[in-house]
Amino acid sequence: MNAETKLFQPIKIGAMELKNRIVMAPMTRNRASVTDVPSDLAVTYYAQRASAGLIITEGTQPSPAGQGYPRTPGIHSAEQIEAWRKITDAVHAKRGRIFLQIMHTGRIAHRLNRTVYRPPVAPSAIQASGTIYTDSLGPQPYSLPQALATDEIPSVIEEYHRATSNALAAGFDGVELHAANGYLPMQFLSSNSNQRSDRYGGSVQNRARFVLETLEAMIDGAGLASRVGLRVSPGNTFNDMHDANPVGTHLYLTEEVNPLGLAYLHIQQQPKDVHTDGLLDPVRMLRPIFDGPIIATGGFDRDSASQLLSNGDADLIGFARLFIANPDLVERFQTAGPLAEPDAATFYTPGPKGYADYPALGAEALAGAAAAG
Ligand SMILES: Cc1cc2nc3c(=O)[nH]c(=O)nc-3n(C[C@H](O)[C@H](O)[C@H](O)COP(=O)(O)O)c2cc1C
Repeated sequence: MNAETKLFQPIKIGAMELKNRIVMAPMTRNRASVTDVPSDLAVTYYAQRASAGLIITEGTQPSPAGQGYPRTPGIHSAEQIEAWRKITDAVHAKRGRIFLQIMHTGRIAHRLNRTVYRPPVAPSAIQASGTIYTDSLGPQPYSLPQALATDEIPSVIEEYHRATSNALAAGFDGVELHAANGYLPMQFLSSNSNQRSDRYGGSVQNRARFVLETLEAMIDGAGLASRVGLRVSPGNTFNDMHDANPVGTHLYLTEEVNPLGLAYLHIQQQPKDVHTDGLLDPVRMLRPIFDGPIIATGGFDRDSASQLLSNGDADLIGFARLFIANPDLVERFQTAGPLAEPDAATFYTPGPKGYADYPALGAEALAGAAAAG
């Protein structure tokens, strides 16, 4: 156990102070209502985890057209904004900070998971290989996407702009563009899914254009660049991503992102259970290039996180799966308390089980004492 750790040191993101460097990484949990509204249980779930320096929410669609999976929340209706407001209030009441992750899934979608009839959109009409879960028919091949016409792209970017304004209206401290893990922005970045011949395809400059224009729109929607973060996962082959040159693509993107002055760059390094092209250490690759704070996520525990912070390779560390079963992860790290194991069978299932019912350590000890006595 590394006793000396920077994990509990505060850090500033723009003008905003975070109470520690422990980030709850974004996790889709598929518990929203049929109208894609976050549930009251989500208020409890996020409030339970508010001792994190920063919470980044589950991927949230900017529009009905951006939905790929069942029961994911949106940020495009008044009802959704109101429901998110309860969550941001609950997190703020505990001195927590919370960013909304905006996720447009592009071709990673199935029509049964969507409320709009139109097929999903993508840079090119290339179906992803593999299957996607649906509630009514189980795993199904991905839908064949429609290629976005050049003159349709501004309206997709406008959806991100509006979603960002909505997020700020719902009380979020900022928003994160999900440009990782094979969703729409990464589909533009990656040469296998982007075979366009217009100004959004071909050269790395063109493939990065969608992400850069979207970030500019989000900064405009947020009113401040330090309220917008970017998440990338260079070299990740999840969701059928195979870029011919993920190093070159992400080096270029990061250089172009620098002048924007974003809140942070969130780099997902590949956890061991996700297949990758295996050639990259994305955190060490992008650290010297990016001018602002770096969040590194993927397979960390307390020791490896402390090590990365003390080496200076990152400024904050994201934890995903550990936060599922350990709502009080920060306190457990502080006291070197035992860690609970999450149940993967309930990661994505509707309903309360495996969601807001993992106890905090103190509660467990109290329950144990009550049972014993
Ligand atoms: C249940 C689950 C849902 C996830 N959903 C998202 C998501 O919505 N957006 C995203 O960017 N990453 C998502 N991820 C990836 C995590 O943010 C994280 O990068 C990954 O789990 C590795 O971190 P870990 O080793 O700490 O779990 C998800 C991971 C899990 C386990």
